[in-house]
Amino acid sequence: MNILVTGGAGYIGSHTAVALLDAGHSVVIMDNLSNSKAEVVANIEEITSKQVVFYEADAADPVSVERVFKAHKFDGVIHFAGYKAVGESVEKPLDYYYNNIVSTMLLGKNCLKYGVNKFVFSSSATVYGDNDVPLDEDMELGKTTNPYGETKAISERILTDVAKANPNFAVSLLRYFNPVGAHPSGLIGEDPKGIPNNLLPYITQVAKGTLKQLKVFGDDYDTADGTGVRDYIHVMDLAEGHIAALDYLTAGVHIYNLGTGRGTSVLELIQAFEEANQIKIPYEIVGRRPGDVAATYADVTKAKRELDWEAKRDLHDMVKDAWHFEKRLGK
Ligand code: NAD
Ligand code: UD1
Repeated sequence: MNILVTGGAGYIGSHTAVALLDAGHSVVIMDNLSNSKAEVVANIEEITSKQVVFYEADAADPVSVERVFKAHKFDGVIHFAGYKAVGESVEKPLDYYYNNIVSTMLLGKNCLKYGVNKFVFSSSATVYGDNDVPLDEDMELGKTTNPYGETKAISERILTDVAKANPNFAVSLLRYFNPVGAHPSGLIGEDPKGIPNNLLPYITQVAKGTLKQLKVFGDDYDTADGTGVRDYIHVMDLAEGHIAALDYLTAGVHIYNLGTGRGTSVLELIQAFEEANQIKIPYEIVGRRPGDVAATYADVTKAKRELDWEAKRDLHDMVKDAWHFEKRLGK
């Protein structure tokens, strides 16, 4: 298949581009590089020894989007492009609503106009709000707590309505849990700007000495060791989940959790990192981070049953590959 990958120079998009090329698909990347670098595209090509068509272009700009659809015959679109920082979305709600929702609408419109029937969307476990774990696709969604989460919930609704109105349109809404790690080559990975918000990128920067010590946000949650529990998933497993979603996509709307189904606490992740990489991570316990929940993890039975997909890599692979990438960054 020939697949348009928006946001393909970003963290998850670049790994998915590798997985698509490895599976024999062709890839066209559209990315405005607002949160990534052009060299990522060269690294995708180096890893796979295959060529990628790259447009440095804005998925929220009608002219740019149509130009790309006119120039290629696509079999499907995977839409990663978007802003994703929760805190920033509270400060700049319009930027988030505009970028994340307009891009979804424009891609949908062009799919209908140019006869592209497969659409895979990057959603997030954040749409569940504060719900009981394990989170499953059939449960009623909770209230989102920030504009970023709301852009995901709204995009899901828009695509669902488009599929209802167009019986040939096939949509897969993929709700990611906590993607971590990197391609084992160390050539692509997560390279956040500034001080990382997320746990594992923070840990790798402490390991490197860029940051002094980790702050553990709360040890008084109702979890086994009191620290927050999340469902960390290796980014290559997540990438492969997209290939499965495309392979099995049929008309209508299909929703899947992409996670491992296992919860890991902050202290367990620190310990896994220390053991796998033989590096001590200094940390202190501080107060809870506002907006955090105690535990989230996925019910992954639907993806296994319908897509024949499940995460294969374990915590050891995640923390090892994350560190391998960070070391190669050389900052
Ligand atoms: P990322 O920032 O690394 O990648 C997003 C890419 O999209 C970047 O390369 C950026 O330059 C590009 N982009 C942003 N707006 C664009 C636009 N208007 N036009 C073209 N390109 C644009 O983020 P990521 O972690 O790879 O996330 C990919 C998608 O998955 C996002 O939609 C994100 O919300 C979603 N998601 C991520 C996580 C996570 O933990 N990383 C969790 C759940 C969902
Ligand atoms: C964050 C986002 C969420 C997004 C998810 C995956 C917020 C409020 N939520 O959630 O929308 O879908 O990332 O990208 O930003 N922790 C520390 N110290 C740190 C950083 C994190 O103790 O320096 C703890 C957190 O309290 C949490 C766990 O580590 O218990 C994981 O945090 P994080 O990586 O930010 O992921 P989420 O909280 O799931």
